[in-house]
Amino acid sequence: MDAPMVKVKVEEINDEIDVESQEREHFTRILNSFRSYRTFCQRRVTDTLRYYEGLPTHHKQLIPNFLQHLTHVQWCICENYDVLKLIIQDVEHIFENKQNAANAGEDEPTSKATLPKISDMDKLKSTLRQFVRDWSTDGQAERDVCYTPVIEEIVKRFPPESCDSSQVSILVPGAGLGRLAFEFAKRGYNCQGNEFSLYMLFSSNFVLNKCKEINNYTLYPWVHQWTNNLRNEDQVRAITFPDVDTSDLPENASFSMAAGNFLEVYEDPAVFDCVVTVFFIDTAHNIIAYVEKIFEILKPGGYWVNMGPLLYHYADMPNEVSIELAYEDVRSVIEKMGFVFEMEKKNIASTYTENPASMLTHTYNSVMFVCRKPVMKEEGQ
Ligand SMILES: C[S@@+](CC[C@H](N)C(=O)[O-])C[C@H]1O[C@@H](n2cnc3c(N)ncnc32)[C@H](O)[C@@H]1O
Repeated sequence: MDAPMVKVKVEEINDEIDVESQEREHFTRILNSFRSYRTFCQRRVTDTLRYYEGLPTHHKQLIPNFLQHLTHVQWCICENYDVLKLIIQDVEHIFENKQNAANAGEDEPTSKATLPKISDMDKLKSTLRQFVRDWSTDGQAERDVCYTPVIEEIVKRFPPESCDSSQVSILVPGAGLGRLAFEFAKRGYNCQGNEFSLYMLFSSNFVLNKCKEINNYTLYPWVHQWTNNLRNEDQVRAITFPDVDTSDLPENASFSMAAGNFLEVYEDPAVFDCVVTVFFIDTAHNIIAYVEKIFEILKPGGYWVNMGPLLYHYADMPNEVSIELAYEDVRSVIEKMGFVFEMEKKNIASTYTENPASMLTHTYNSVMFVCRKPVMKEEGQ
């Protein structure tokens, strides 16, 4: 029997017409980045080819395999493009409660407002790497560090074998490609992922609703990494996905994705038993607003489990401002908001969409904590 579709719901935030049309333009622009992927990325290879052609003959003779490698890179880009086209197939109907007119038949963008930017193509390339983290066996080591401990903390507090896990509601803001939220739903919890990136929403929709067989699709996520390769084959290494049957959920599973900004989507207080944030809290302009929102939407007695670094996304971004608090200040804000720390661990060596074969790797010394919203607010707080 097919598992229930993982519904993606767009929260209506603003009814104004210009907001509607901006949203539609944004939707089409992201769709257009998927459509432009092959042309855009092949241009990079063509530039290298042209430069290679101009090399002195004796230099070319020293690298006899180089042309063949570039041809392989071009082939990988075409293979990625085939999967990206599948991801955006019928994506105009992705939202349960909203239609997105996105010029479904168009192959390449036409209008200026919907033309993908370089930053859009970068996001698309990083989405390819996100498939490794969330839905491939290659991402298992990363998930073991980032997801497993937070799942264990929830399971310890709400053991599925001794409580009705379908009555435990969990929210995963900044859900990415949805693996962590899926893991909660698989254990019978009532889980909602929240995400505002259309790259992530299109892709998680594909994995969760359209992939019917394990490891049926192949991607070449490292093909855009031109530097720090030890061997040519590292750049063209394949991964397959999904590593699990994403339709394998309990029959009564309650699993959904809510599209939109976390700060705007959730307005009702005291609705969730748990909020789980992994590599998320540093996406805020104002991290205090995140802490406040999490406190507000948790039921009294509810838990916030967090894992990740503080790589503030808007720090040093042109035309953006944010406050970048050190962890000691974040911690103090959390306590002043009324949370009680139950568990805290620092210096957890963790990676994010890391290419293990690369000559350059980043490791975060992440912080993990579990906080509880008291059943009754202490006097004076
Ligand atoms: C660093 S990624 C982490 C994704 C996932 N939790 C993981 O560990 O792989 C942060 C995610 O949060 C999403 N995000 C950032 N700000 C958001 C917001 N205000 N509301 C909803 N999602 C947001 C981004 O689109 C991105 O997918």
